[in-house]
Amino acid sequence: MSTRARRRGRARVLINCAASLDGKIAYADGSRASLSGPEDLRRVHRMRNSVDAILVGIGTVMADDPSLAVRPEFARPRRRAPTKIVLDSSCRTPAGARLLSSPGRAVVVTAEGCAGSVQGAEMVRCGGGRVDLARLLALLPGRGIESVMVEGGGTVIRSFLAAGLWDRMTVYYAPLVIGGGTTPTIADGDGATGPGGIVGARITASRGLGDGLLVTFRPLRRRGSGR
Ligand SMILES: NC(=O)c1ccc[n+]([C@@H]2O[C@H](COP(=O)([O-])OP(=O)(O)OC[C@H]3O[C@@H](n4cnc5c(N)ncnc54)[C@H](OP(=O)(O)O)[C@@H]3O)[C@@H](O)[C@H]2O)c1
Repeated sequence: MSTRARRRGRARVLINCAASLDGKIAYADGSRASLSGPEDLRRVHRMRNSVDAILVGIGTVMADDPSLAVRPEFARPRRRAPTKIVLDSSCRTPAGARLLSSPGRAVVVTAEGCAGSVQGAEMVRCGGGRVDLARLLALLPGRGIESVMVEGGGTVIRSFLAAGLWDRMTVYYAPLVIGGGTTPTIADGDGATGPGGIVGARITASRGLGDGLLVTFRPLRRRGSGR
């Protein structure tokens, strides 16, 4: 384990997603929207290629069936492909999910009370009703995973943000509007009902990328935390 991972006490978390100008990350019915242009796809695949693991929630597996692979037309895949992690408390990952057969280890993380297993995936049990993110991130470095790219969806992103378990977030804003009151957004789940529930961030970079805008956020520094 590297000194940095030991000092942090958990894997590093890099959140990434693509959104419309109004913050939607899919179509109104939850189906996948292609929001990234070629320039952003190249960036995403290079980022995938640079981390130890890529993580999604079971909602994304059900809606999009992503392979989470590094596409060779965008980045030259490393010899050891990143591990693919699914947060899936009650083990609903379908046997034919694409991420189970794409390059790299697949890990399905369930709650402790769940006895299910998925063929082709390593099972990790962690947490009571839902996967305990803090515990999961703390055990990953011991398994050789020091950096995790969280690719969504909105429920999972909100959980990482709300728990303060993130180090950097990149959002690619495509110049279009999807609209809709229940369309999936960057951060779903339970929203803040007052100032106490707000997740503060600071913008550390922004630049045009293709037709869109790439914005990088970091957590607000807490006074005296030294981060
Ligand atoms: N544009 C983009 O960049 C992008 C990327 C990815 C996905 N998407 C879109 O996002 C949508 C799917 O998002 P979603 O919000 O429905 O699902 P999601 O965030 O992918 O998965 C949510 C599920 O993960 C499980 N989970 C387990 N532990 C959790 C924890 N600690 N915190 C939060 N969730 C936990 C929960 O199900 P259990 O309780 O059953 O475990 C939860 O319902 C789709 O429409 C997809 O197209 C867009």
